Amino acid sequence: MQQSAFQSTSIRTRDPARMNYTALKSILTGALILISTCNPAYAEGDPEEGKVKFLMCAGCHAIPGYSNVFPRFQVPKLGGQHAEFIINSLKSYAKGERQHVSMTGTALSLTEQDMQNIAEYLASLKFAVNIDKDEAFGNPVAGKKKAKNCASCHGKKGKSASPGFPNLIGQYETYLIHALQQYRSGNRTNPMMTGMAAALSDEDIEDIAAYYASQKKGLSTPR
Ligand code: HEC
Ligand code: HEC
Repeated sequence: MQQSAFQSTSIRTRDPARMNYTALKSILTGALILISTCNPAYAEGDPEEGKVKFLMCAGCHAIPGYSNVFPRFQVPKLGGQHAEFIINSLKSYAKGERQHVSMTGTALSLTEQDMQNIAEYLASLKFAVNIDKDEAFGNPVAGKKKAKNCASCHGKKGKSASPGFPNLIGQYETYLIHALQQYRSGNRTNPMMTGMAAALSDEDIEDIAAYYASQKKGLSTPR
């Protein structure tokens, strides 16, 4: 895009100094737009306020092993998750890009500030020793190999270095299976994950989920 802007200005102008200036201006404008849209709003959250607000989430998210009724899967662990991903998720529920009756209602009741506060609180929680690795559907050893393609974004063992990419390390196996099935069926959409999930068989999904869920330490349950 920047290349073509440069070419079109160079056809229309003769003065090389002016040509460079115009091209530079359009490149700088593009860079500025990029910087402003990447502005990390979550940095303004107050974790103390977030902890108080999180009481309304505790009935589902602070009970170890708590299960969604239908379909049956464990409610995701949020302790130690990236703030940016938490905020993105809440906004996705509010906009209807992700669907779950209680989460949509919950997300719609939150202000932008609430979301930032809660996200900062959850991100500040430490990883914990994983005590719920017993219910294995997949094969974690096979899953380790199959998860190679996922490491560029989700990190080794599912600990992601980039705040927009969720940590998967120590997440419940049943939740990971549910999430991957949702991407594959199109009920949850994301330009990066839709294609990744489409390539996975049921067995692949279970094995990869078992691999991330079997890590000794990872995402925790807030208490
Ligand atoms: C009635 C139970 C319930 C309550 C209350 C609830 N949640 Fe959830 N939450 C869920 C379930 C179930 C899911 C998984 C839904 C799905 O996407 O399929 C979920 C998913 C999420 C996710 C996405 C996590 C991920 O890894 O994809 C976030 C973030 C979240 N909840 C935050 C909150 C916050 C913050 C509150 C309180 C303000 C809250 N939830 C209240 C049940 C609940
Ligand atoms: C190019 C980067 C990229 C790659 C490669 C990638 N992911 Fe993701 N993944 C993402 C992003 C971004 C999200 C958050 C999307 C959203 O908000 O729904 C995500 C979300 C997920 C989630 C949902 C987590 C949650 O808590 O809701 C799972 C599970 C997942 N990815 C598994 C995988 C697996 C398994 C692979 C490899 C087969 C993979 N991903 C490869 C970028 C990637």
